[in-house]
Amino acid sequence: MYRILRKQRLNPTVTRMVIDAPKVARKAQAGQFVILRVKEDGERIPLTIADYDAMAGTVTIIYQIVGATTMLLDRLEQGDAILDFVGPLGRPSEVKHLHKVCVIGGGVGCAIAYPTAKALHENGAEVTLISGFRNKDLVILQEEFQAVSKTCHLVSDDGSTGKKGLVTDVLKELIEQGESFDEVIAIGPLVMMKFVCLLTKQYSIKTIVSMNPIMIDGTGMCGCCRLSVGGEMKFACVDGPDFDGHAVDFDEAISRSSTYREHERKAREEACNLFHKEVAS
Ligand SMILES: Cc1cc2nc3c(=O)[nH]c(=O)nc-3n(C[C@H](O)[C@H](O)[C@H](O)COP(=O)(O)OP(=O)(O)OC[C@H]3O[C@@H](n4cnc5c(N)ncnc54)[C@H](O)[C@@H]3O)c2cc1C
Ligand code: FES
Repeated sequence: MYRILRKQRLNPTVTRMVIDAPKVARKAQAGQFVILRVKEDGERIPLTIADYDAMAGTVTIIYQIVGATTMLLDRLEQGDAILDFVGPLGRPSEVKHLHKVCVIGGGVGCAIAYPTAKALHENGAEVTLISGFRNKDLVILQEEFQAVSKTCHLVSDDGSTGKKGLVTDVLKELIEQGESFDEVIAIGPLVMMKFVCLLTKQYSIKTIVSMNPIMIDGTGMCGCCRLSVGGEMKFACVDGPDFDGHAVDFDEAISRSSTYREHERKAREEACNLFHKEVAS
């Protein structure tokens, strides 16, 4: 069992938890993830290792409440325990030998972008951060981003915080002002990553994206997380989750991402009904 040491709400739908998981913390690196299970008959879900402390034996996760399992997870409080917490899984992000990097996070993708930005900063890279949210109520991790970057740009779709616009508007502006980057790292919704890649391709800037397809076993056995990258089949859980964004077939990934929508809707409804019954009784 993996005890929850701290729980903090970051915005109405995003929560941070610090978990007592010494074995995972000892081996964790930026870019890796865990697969957790809240209860015996529950689903396994992957979440990025948002931070870790090998000395303290803790791993931080940041999750958005989107469906049945994240709802269940969010019902746990400080002092409660998570049943399974397996990791670290996936390949670590490549953060060495880079000088100037632009890290882009979209929405809860910022939770996945943060450990990579932090590791780049610790390895001596100059980090420019661009984070984008739908509106001011959804903003997360700005203090953390400022601590690991040279410049930090915030944009929102509706202009309620930061600059009004998209992350790609800021990136284009920076490039046209003469900024040069060894690499751009984009993490967020598939559509955002696709458009960042279309833009950086025009300027021949290497771009890494973190792909989050449906995962089941997380060990390369089930084939569930397959993607087409450079015309080859790759498994995000063992070959990624980071990939060369210019080689990823985003249209296929977007179409595959809706495969389980009906099943997820039913699971979400069941979880909601269960909670309502509990509240009523
Ligand atoms: C490597 C990786 C790292 C991730 N890191 C984070 C993170 O740090 N924070 C965060 O909020 N989310 C992260 N996700 C997404 C997270 O796994 C899903 O939000 C979660 O599984 C939703 O489960 P649910 O039962 O609550 O929702 P559901 O209603 O079951 O699903 C809602 C949406 O979540 C996604 N999803 C559902 N099940 C899975 C699954 N088994 N594997 C992958 N995606 C799934 C799908 O896009 C789905 O449409 C990550 C996904 C991957 C693959
Ligand atoms: S999750 Fe099963 S192969 Fe990747």
